[in-house]
Amino acid sequence: MKIAVVGTGYVGLVTGTCFTETGNKVTCVDIDRSKVEKLSAGRITIYEPGLEKIFLRNIKEERLKFTTQLEEAIEDAEIIFLALPTPPGADGGADLKYVLGVADHLGKILKGYKVIVNKSTVPVGTADKVRAAIAKNYNGEYDVVSNPEFLREGVAVDDFMKPDRVVVGTISERAKKLMSDLYAPFVRQGNPVIFMDERSSELTKYAANSFLATKISFMNEIAQLCERMGADVDMVRRGIGSDDRIGKRFLFPGIGYGGSCFPKDVQALIMSSDEVNYEFMILKAVEKVNALQKLHLVQKIKAYYNNDLQGKHFALWGLAFKPNTDDIREAPALHIIDSLIKSGATISAYDPEAINNAKGQLGDKIQYSPNPYKALKDADALIIATEWSEFRTPDFNQIRSLLKNRVIFDGRNLFETSNIGDLGFSYISVGRKIIN
Ligand SMILES: NC(=O)c1ccc[n+]([C@@H]2O[C@H](COP(=O)([O-])OP(=O)(O)OC[C@H]3O[C@@H](n4cnc5c(N)ncnc54)[C@H](O)[C@@H]3O)[C@@H](O)[C@H]2O)c1
Repeated sequence: MKIAVVGTGYVGLVTGTCFTETGNKVTCVDIDRSKVEKLSAGRITIYEPGLEKIFLRNIKEERLKFTTQLEEAIEDAEIIFLALPTPPGADGGADLKYVLGVADHLGKILKGYKVIVNKSTVPVGTADKVRAAIAKNYNGEYDVVSNPEFLREGVAVDDFMKPDRVVVGTISERAKKLMSDLYAPFVRQGNPVIFMDERSSELTKYAANSFLATKISFMNEIAQLCERMGADVDMVRRGIGSDDRIGKRFLFPGIGYGGSCFPKDVQALIMSSDEVNYEFMILKAVEKVNALQKLHLVQKIKAYYNNDLQGKHFALWGLAFKPNTDDIREAPALHIIDSLIKSGATISAYDPEAINNAKGQLGDKIQYSPNPYKALKDADALIIATEWSEFRTPDFNQIRSLLKNRVIFDGRNLFETSNIGDLGFSYISVGRKIIN
């Protein structure tokens, strides 16, 4: 099949590349000229495990191309995917200007039947708006389909190649057939392609992300209770997670959810609910808990130093919003950095993949370290903000000798409380006893 993907960011690049893996020809289009130049030259623009290899292979096989010209990208395409940003607008709802802008443009250049698929996360009713934007200038045949993306950054290639499910919102039999054929190679193990109407499909994505965010905020509140009641959140997590109805995943407390999706999607669903005169009370609480949790570790750090961080220097491990990505959008580490700097502290940070993006956003507000141990030199304490695997079994002897004081604030509960005390550290984590 011939496919166009509009928007070549985290979702668009993975989508375009993975579709070429099953033999499709894909042209990815982006308005960011420098991105398109890099990609066309075979240089990948995001860090996503496993992506570069298939990206290079499919460029070589001439199945994967990049352009800045929408017209060129869609010329032969049977299916056009929109993987465009849907950031929060001024009112907190999803801003559809990118999606509707491209829909408007498509209306002016479409020739003949095509399926326009919305992969961006968009509020209920967007398929109708896209349809109307196209219809302003085009009266030929086309279908607009909702096909929300559920990939997780860090494991995006696996998620895309072997999805738990594919959700497709359309009532058009013609579009259904094309989408079925396209996804058939990705669901050979029997995972479902679930067809439904567009509105249900659009809401499914928000419901999924909001539910996951709810799980995180719930566990963060349980962690708060553990700290006050002398319980251990790790034990509680294991105790509840072995119940099939609850499940083991997404039960880890921490320093709040971040990333480019959960915060904006929770906010957008609250807004969409308000628009239909429904107050989504649970989600409002989820947001509130998350806002507090993001600063919880900072409060502990301040309390440890009697509210005086002036002149303190911290090593910070982890800038990305989660491991295995270079994405720092809404990363909890950024909130911690901001708050510590405002209190007079300085920071030396290390992250295996996200330093370039952090430099772009933070500039010289902090120092950057080429490896985790260099960041520790002369630091008053180590703060852990992202659970990269390489932080899980560090060289504690080096940490001990490099830090000025043997203190670790761990926002990700990487170490066993029972071991870390024996190693001579003070250890403050989330929802577990403080080791002094
Ligand atoms: N990142 C994720 O993990 C994830 C997962 C599932 C769904 N989503 C959703 O997918 C959508 C895209 O997210 P993302 O993280 O890939 O965003 P992104 O910011 O990484 O990428 C968007 C790309 O679109 C390009 N773009 C903007 N306007 C354009 C235009 N007019 N024509 C062509 N390209 C244009 C930008 O230059 C950018 O490269 C969002 O709605 C998001 O909520 C994201």
